[in-house]
Amino acid sequence: MANQQTEKQDRLAKIMAEAPVIPVVTLDDPRKAVAMARALVAGGLPVIEITLRTPEAFECLRAITDEVEEVIAGAGTVLSPAQIAAAENSGAQFMVSPGYSPKLVEAAENCAVPLLPGTATPSEMMQLGERGYRHLKFFPAMQAGGAAYLKSVMAPLPQFRFCPTGGISADNAVEFLALPNVLCVGGSWVASADKIEASDWTGIEQAAKDARNLLG
Ligand code: 3PG
Repeated sequence: MANQQTEKQDRLAKIMAEAPVIPVVTLDDPRKAVAMARALVAGGLPVIEITLRTPEAFECLRAITDEVEEVIAGAGTVLSPAQIAAAENSGAQFMVSPGYSPKLVEAAENCAVPLLPGTATPSEMMQLGERGYRHLKFFPAMQAGGAAYLKSVMAPLPQFRFCPTGGISADNAVEFLALPNVLCVGGSWVASADKIEASDWTGIEQAAKDARNLLG
C-alpha cells in the first residue's frame, strides 16, 4: 500500500507539472466535450478536470479519453466511493475532490487512479500526510486565504505541493504560481461555461494559450 501511494504521488507530480493551469469544466454533451478538449490541448493545456456535476459527466470523460490524443483527463468533484469506481471505469487518469472523508480516502487507496484531495487547513494537510499524500488541492483557494495563506503553510509544512482552485483567474493565478509549494492552479475561467455553451473553441484555445503563457 505504501509503495503504491508513493507511485501514485509520483504520477500526480508529473501530471501537475504538465501545465501551469488545469481547466475545470462542467460538461453535458460528449461531442462538445471532445471539441473543447481538442481546443485545450491545442492551446497547450492537456490536463483537464471534468467535474461530476452532470448526469452526462462520465460519458463526456469517456469520449475525451477515447478520442482526444495527448489529453490527461481527470474526474473532479469526486465525493463518493461509487464515483471513484465509475471514474476509473471511464478512463480517468486522476481524480480531484473538494475535501475528503475517511470513506473516500479508503476507496481511493484501493483504486489505481491517484486522488488529489481538497484541503483548506493545516490539520487536514497533516491528516492526509499521515496517509502518504504529498500532493493536495487547496480549496476554495481565494476564499480560504489566497496565496498569502499558502505561503504561511509552507514554513511548517514544506513537504506538500498544491493545486489551488476556487476563485482563481488570469488576474491572480501568477501570485499562486510564484509560490514554491504550488505546481499548478485549477480554474473554470479558461474553458468557461459561456464559451462551451457558444461552442467557442477558438476562444477556448486562445484562453488556453494565454494561461499556458502566464509565467512568460
Ligand atoms: C469548482 O469547484 O468549480 C472549481 O474549484 C473551480 O472554481 P472556479 O469556478 O472558482 O474557478
